[in-house]
Amino acid sequence: MTAINEVTDLVVEGDIAVLTLNSPPVNALSAKVRDGIFNGIEQAVGDDAVKAVVLICDGRTFIAGADITEFGGAQTGASLFEAQAMIEGSSKPVVAAIHGTALGGGLEVALTCHYRIGVPSAKCGLPEVNLGLLPGAGGTQRLPRIVGVEKALEFMTSGTHVPANACLEIGLLDEMAAEGNLRSDAIAFAQKLVAEGRPLNKVRDLNDKVEAARGKPEIFANFRKSIARKTRGFKAPEAIIQCVEAAVDESFDDGIKVEQALFRDLVTGDQSAAQRHVFFAERQCWKIPDVPKDTATIPVEKVGIIGAGTMGGGIAMNFASAGYPVTIVETKQDALDRGLGVVRANYERSAKRGRFTMEEAEARIARITGTLSLEDLADCDLVIEAVFENMKIKKEIFGNLDRIVKQGAILASNTSALNIDEIATATTRPEAVIGLHFFSPANVMRLLEVVRADHTSKDVINTSMQIAKKIGKIAALVGVCPGFVGNRILGRRQAMAQRLMFEGTMPWDVDRVLFGFGFPMGPFAMSDLAGLDIGWNKEASKGETIRDVLCEMDRRGQKTGAGYYDYDENRNANPSPVTEKIINEFVDKSGINKRSYTDEEILQRCLFPMINEGAKLLEEGMAIRSSDIDIVWINGYGWPAYRGGPMFYGDLVGLDKVLAGMKELEAELGAEFKPAALLEKLVAEGKKFSDVPPKG
Ligand code: 3HC
Repeated sequence: MTAINEVTDLVVEGDIAVLTLNSPPVNALSAKVRDGIFNGIEQAVGDDAVKAVVLICDGRTFIAGADITEFGGAQTGASLFEAQAMIEGSSKPVVAAIHGTALGGGLEVALTCHYRIGVPSAKCGLPEVNLGLLPGAGGTQRLPRIVGVEKALEFMTSGTHVPANACLEIGLLDEMAAEGNLRSDAIAFAQKLVAEGRPLNKVRDLNDKVEAARGKPEIFANFRKSIARKTRGFKAPEAIIQCVEAAVDESFDDGIKVEQALFRDLVTGDQSAAQRHVFFAERQCWKIPDVPKDTATIPVEKVGIIGAGTMGGGIAMNFASAGYPVTIVETKQDALDRGLGVVRANYERSAKRGRFTMEEAEARIARITGTLSLEDLADCDLVIEAVFENMKIKKEIFGNLDRIVKQGAILASNTSALNIDEIATATTRPEAVIGLHFFSPANVMRLLEVVRADHTSKDVINTSMQIAKKIGKIAALVGVCPGFVGNRILGRRQAMAQRLMFEGTMPWDVDRVLFGFGFPMGPFAMSDLAGLDIGWNKEASKGETIRDVLCEMDRRGQKTGAGYYDYDENRNANPSPVTEKIINEFVDKSGINKRSYTDEEILQRCLFPMINEGAKLLEEGMAIRSSDIDIVWINGYGWPAYRGGPMFYGDLVGLDKVLAGMKELEAELGAEFKPAALLEKLVAEGKKFSDVPPKG
């Protein structure tokens, strides 16, 4: 065996050279890996005894892509293109042997190999789009040459990891190896290629599939239309489409030039920086400095949910879908029946849409048992209370749970606002009490705020984080404070949106600006969707607020055909002259100076107080790190991933600018807008939120 470098070995077995990469954790294409490929292939090809080469990886996966940590830095060693050219130009067949995931640059390396073999559990994908990038090592030119234009567009704009059997079908893999037997099957395959004198397949020379799409611009027009809604605001999908257009219309080499130019734009742009930040943030959020990985966990086999309303039902679905038996408790039979009926309807709808089979839907439904007795939760390992927000009722429930549920179980509340420490006082085991704040619809939204109370034990925290992962959520550990992390920041945006309206800015102007920024909808459209009468009391209403007046006029949102907006029969929102008149009357009566703001001012007025609140949460230790706050806002509140979350965005626009904006607001509107001490400190030190070390 020859060590090519610290991460690459070359061994010749008979007449086959095996080049093995071993660069944990995921064999990313760092300088050493690229050098290893370049020098290893060169050496193998130069060895007269060698007839073919197998490129394989040790560890959990084949090459999972370019080394994301290297982006933005100076490149050393062989470039990826040089390594690929060494493979593709080899005079002896090179076989990629794939296990785990061949992703991004990893698959692009495999596409320069002359043949590809994989184990059944392997997956291939070009997920660069999720990092705000396009496959920039020839992927946009080679993939359509193998799988055709439409499939390539879908593959690259979705970033899906495609299972080996499907890869075999579409020609991405040439051969399937037996699971666990990749190395010897790949060697045998290489021997067969040599014995049969098979040609050096170069994907770059395959032209049939791209030529078939030439002169058919409708393919691209239709595809653009099909993804428009889902990809609004993202630059990478459009850049990918343009690369594939080039693959169809230009020579391979010219197509590569287009790919390179567009890749450079993306990799140096803010969107990719934001999405790379999100990639690492999604991995950081599981790490809790004072709850190390080896902290004990509590085995969870059976879950209890209290409340079969929208939240309780949605939460139950998460667990049932992940294979947990769930007992769901209601106080009245009709409420229970209604709740279970909704769960059934949701599962059946998903099955009809082809997400899973009807048998699977039935299996999931069968895991949920309804009951009217809290006593039936006695043997649950985890109980989640999801009744309405009333401290007295929650304390009563937790007192009962303390009496009923076995010792060692986790007692969780789904409260979005109430003090978990106070809830825990209703029990004799506050160490077992934690907040698990799901977001509506709980079976769909990815975010889970795990709320650590004063006495919550580390085992309970660790188990809750693990459970979150098992049910497919992304979790952030937060502290107890009104609104926790997400809603506390939301409160600042809502307050400012209202303030803008009281100064005469119309709701649709605020919404337009925030929609343009990338939110799925603005705060007023959101209120109309949720219903303006949530928390509004007809008897107590005195017409004192704009909302009071709207509700009194039965303009209660989409459900009544009007709210802040007027709605047509297709629920399209239109600015409302009625609302405008009401607002203008309020402004005139209030004596507040009517003001008009530019879009940029509206944006800053809405976003800077959110960033400032995030800074306060950080300094109070309510979030472990600034990127956890970003995770909360991206996954729970529709902050566009390509803007990286509020804290990343603050760093990007400059904390000095945010501070100056907050000082102006403070001078104008008072102490409520006082800049966070942390913000002042970071600006004074010339630092960013991302420089703040994790708490704990
Ligand atoms: N570069 C640098 N580090 C990477 C990496 C990469 N491409 N992929 C993963 N890592 C790191 C993670 O940050 C994590 O680090 P940590 O342990 O310090 O937190 C560690 O590797 C393990 O990763 P995961 O926790 O994600 O491990 P999993 O086993 O759950 O998942 C994976 C493995 C499916 C490979 C997943 O890591 C993944 O999806 N990676 C990114 C793949 C990707 O996007 N590739 C394209 C890169 S861009 C590119 O190739 C450009 C090219 O076209 C020119």
